[in-house]
Amino acid sequence: MTEKEANLSKSFMDQISPKTQFKKNKINGVKKIIAISSGKGGVGKSTIAVNLAITLKNLKYNVGILDADVYGPSIPKMMGLSEKPKCDDGINLIPIKKFNIQCMSIGFMVSEETPMIWRGPMVASTIKTFANKVLWNDIDFLIIDMPPGTGDALLTFSQEIDIDGAIIVTTPQDIAIIDVKRGIEMFKRTNVKILGIIENMTSFVSDDGVEHFIFGRNGAEIISKKFNVELLEKIPIEIKLREDSDNGEPFCEFKKNNTITKIFFNVAKKIIKNLN
Ligand SMILES: Nc1ncnc2c1ncn2[C@@H]1O[C@H](COP(=O)(O)OP(=O)(O)OP(=O)(O)O)[C@@H](O)[C@H]1O
Ligand SMILES: [Mg+2]
Repeated sequence: MTEKEANLSKSFMDQISPKTQFKKNKINGVKKIIAISSGKGGVGKSTIAVNLAITLKNLKYNVGILDADVYGPSIPKMMGLSEKPKCDDGINLIPIKKFNIQCMSIGFMVSEETPMIWRGPMVASTIKTFANKVLWNDIDFLIIDMPPGTGDALLTFSQEIDIDGAIIVTTPQDIAIIDVKRGIEMFKRTNVKILGIIENMTSFVSDDGVEHFIFGRNGAEIISKKFNVELLEKIPIEIKLREDSDNGEPFCEFKKNNTITKIFFNVAKKIIKNLN
């Protein structure tokens, strides 16, 4: 990555400038808010959001998950949800409970076929509705699954919601991705604490026991050193993780003694430590 490529545009820097005063709000019924973000799409944010939520629940916390990915909501599918949330008073939404986790998603409001071609103001107002009109019940950790990149949804959230910490998900080759830098810069400028990086799809171990580094090596280490953020854990490519997500049966809920379940347990412990 050359210095020229790494320079962020002036308009982006103006948008996140600390000169701008942000009034940040808590979410009712929620103690700690954790955002899961990434520079680019398809790196495993939603998979990590779901399995981290399950892990925190297994640690006996009250957990909620908010799917803020207006462009490609995937939490309903990954959590195996099909029913819509209820709205008893005509104003507030009641989260759906599954695996003892309170869930809310823009995916509940639209059919799977509806293309999510929304413009900035709609994204921002949808997010505010989510934040203010969901009856979260005594939640210790609300995990927010963000859309990829540093678009309107993430910017609105970072500026208007009092996020306690952000996790950045990367794959090993993301070192070359300017959006990782944009994401880190945006959280720093909007005073959101970065809890750490998770490197996903680090390697694949074939049946003969050989480890294959399909997406390159050490990308997260380099980002971690360069931007001084902790590398929390590395998650290997595991076919079952994908199959379980597709089937709406979160891996960590059903495979309690697996290596990946233990990796998620370590992530949970580290983020709890880093939140304090
Ligand atoms: N460690 C892994 N091993 C195998 N498959 C994985 C792993 N992590 C994620 N996947 C699979 O990769 C695909 C993308 O993951 P996921 O949807 O979680 O990414 P995302 O970052 O949320 O994507 P988007 O940016 O589109 O929201 C999914 O099919 C998921 O099951
Ligand atoms: Mg996703």
